[in-house]
Amino acid sequence: MTKRTIVSMPGDGIGATVLPEAIRVLDAVGFEADYVHADIGWEFWCKEGNPLPQRTIDLLEKHKLGLFGAITSKPKAEADAELDPALRDQGYVYYSPIVAMRQHFNLDICARPCQSFPGNPLNFIRRGADGGVEEPKVDVVVYRQNTEGLYGGVEWTNPPDQVYDALMTHPKFVKNFGSVPRADLAVSTRIFSRAATTRIMRAAFEHAQKFGYKSVTVCEKPNVIRETSGMMLAIGLEMQKEYPGIDLWNTNIDAQMMWLTKNPEDYGVIVAGNMFGDIISDGFAGLVGGLGFACSANIGEEVAVFEPTHGSAPKYADYETSIVNPIAMILSACMMLDHIGETEKATRIRQAIAEVVAEGEVRTYDMMKLRGSQQALEQGAASTTEMTDAIIAKLK
Ligand code: NAI
Ligand code: MG
Repeated sequence: MTKRTIVSMPGDGIGATVLPEAIRVLDAVGFEADYVHADIGWEFWCKEGNPLPQRTIDLLEKHKLGLFGAITSKPKAEADAELDPALRDQGYVYYSPIVAMRQHFNLDICARPCQSFPGNPLNFIRRGADGGVEEPKVDVVVYRQNTEGLYGGVEWTNPPDQVYDALMTHPKFVKNFGSVPRADLAVSTRIFSRAATTRIMRAAFEHAQKFGYKSVTVCEKPNVIRETSGMMLAIGLEMQKEYPGIDLWNTNIDAQMMWLTKNPEDYGVIVAGNMFGDIISDGFAGLVGGLGFACSANIGEEVAVFEPTHGSAPKYADYETSIVNPIAMILSACMMLDHIGETEKATRIRQAIAEVVAEGEVRTYDMMKLRGSQQALEQGAASTTEMTDAIIAKLK
């Protein structure tokens, strides 16, 4: 097999801490690859006025596979204040490099597995019928449409003439907003396309089929958001006919947020639009350990980028000995291995993580429910590198 080249984008803060840890594990499991560093994040906004430099896009274009840590983003006023004075007033505007990367490469499929590791003290527990404690096994994968919907960026405050005129053709707009001064209107659109909705639905069903899940749940709100959620549900119902062994369930996002603590073990693959997918995946991630465990894949037709869900956690970025949990990043690297067919190596890494978690001897501060601070290490928490070392030691 040819040696792969992986574009390594550590980014800011703890992104730069956890990504090298994932590479250590990839090396240890025997995955042969070259890693090329690529610039992304706040530093490049400040220095160059561009948090996603063209050279990084070129590297992804060339090598197709990226590992990404995290970036820092700050509100507009701070972004402007931290821009190199030599670049000021030249029209540079900060944008999210992750959203830009997803749009540029059309990374329209986002997969976020939320699977509990037995023995993780952060796992969700509930009271059973007999009054005792139950710890349901959570094994959910959220498929989130990554490029459209409410995060599609088609929005206005004080909408321009043509937009306003078009809105005024809708009787409900006239009735509810027709008398609001235009300058007082903010409009964010929620647009779904049939092609992208079909692709995310296909990815969800294929995943369910490949890994033996019994159901695909469309988690939207078709009874109220009739056009977009309605389109997604209709596509799901139609596609289900091609997968007779898999049930198609339909839940509303609000009700699903309630049910996920009631019976999370009932769900398998969940599919949703951009925003509801974001919400529901955070909800399920909270049941299996939160940000230290939440991994994700952004998959397009050519390029794929794998990243933990967490951000750059700046308050922990400059610790002499890092305390953050590298598992989310390492699990994201496992998703990359799965994506390129190296499933045996991915499985070995996940088994090693499962063993470390089950033994419970090496736990980062979050797993010990400690406050994140320098003292966490004295209180018995493992450092970032100690956690990685423990995982590597368990690799079979
Ligand atoms: P965050 O995810 O960086 O951190 C929130 C809290 O979660 C941390 O203070 C820490 O207590 C915990 N945490 C995060 N990662 C952890 C890990 N690996 N192990 C243990 N605990 C962990 O979110 P926050 O503080 O809201 O944002 C910080 C910066 O990150 C902001 O600039 C934000 O814009 C950016 N961000 C970037 C994301 C990305 O790159 N994908 C996603 C979310 C936020
Ligand atoms: Mg989120």
